[in-house]
Amino acid sequence: MLQITNLHASIDDQPILRGIDLTINDGEVHSLMGPNGSGKSTLAKVLAGDEAYEVTDGSIVLNGEDLLELDPHERSAAGLFMAFQYPVEIPGVSMKYFLRTAINSIRKYRELDELDAYEFLSLVKERAAMVELDLDLLDRPVNGGFSGGEKKRAEVFQMAMLEPTACILDETDSGLDIDALRIVADGVNKMRADNRSFLVITHYQRLLSYIVPDVVHVLVDGKIVQTGDKTLALELEEHGYACVEKNNAVDA
Ligand SMILES: Nc1ncnc2c1ncn2[C@@H]1O[C@H](COP(=O)(O)OP(=O)(O)OP(=O)(O)O)[C@@H](O)[C@H]1O
Ligand SMILES: [Mg+2]
Repeated sequence: MLQITNLHASIDDQPILRGIDLTINDGEVHSLMGPNGSGKSTLAKVLAGDEAYEVTDGSIVLNGEDLLELDPHERSAAGLFMAFQYPVEIPGVSMKYFLRTAINSIRKYRELDELDAYEFLSLVKERAAMVELDLDLLDRPVNGGFSGGEKKRAEVFQMAMLEPTACILDETDSGLDIDALRIVADGVNKMRADNRSFLVITHYQRLLSYIVPDVVHVLVDGKIVQTGDKTLALELEEHGYACVEKNNAVDA
């Protein structure tokens, strides 16, 4: 279970998150929508432990562990995974090497044996097939020259490899062509499990027709202003954010 309580975070003394309460139970998929600049990626990055942000209040607890006490790599070992809105290229480090190192350090933390080369490669083949990822990409540097869609597919492949318990997907649908969107969504759906939770950040209801969320939240100006079921995403698609923003102004 991922439990976020009264989370406030700033960057360069500028408050961005202004009191977020969000609990995602095991097995649930929550979607986070909201206008550009409302703080969605900030929330994702604060969860992952990006040091550019200062948490000024509140707590983040994953399966009983206080994530704010942990460094990013420890959060990953504790079961958190974040797929970036803008995946970065890492020159000089091959995707295969990067993933093998990541997997084995997570396994070490969990007191499991390291995967040998054979086990690793068979896992790579199985999980790459889940998102129909071209295996040749894995011999290239991490995201090196990948197309926008290849980067997003590679993010979900990494998630499938690392088997996290809390998965944050930040606009994983952006840049995917229509067929790739379905393939990547199918990959995410295959990973849905009783002991795993998802926070799916998106602007588009279309993704949510493939990855059907249990709960939809709307973030405006660093606060969750509305929570509903999957029909909320349809309403937003039809009417835009004007009505939730108006409700927020009344509440404020
Ligand atoms: N260094 C900074 N100084 C001041 N404001 C910043 C800084 N970095 C980010 N911000 C602001 O934080 C706000 C939230 O940005 P964030 O990336 O979280 O939005 P978002 O909801 O993910 O938007 P989008 O839908 O466009 O991806 C934005 O207004 C952004 O300009
Ligand atoms: Mg964003």
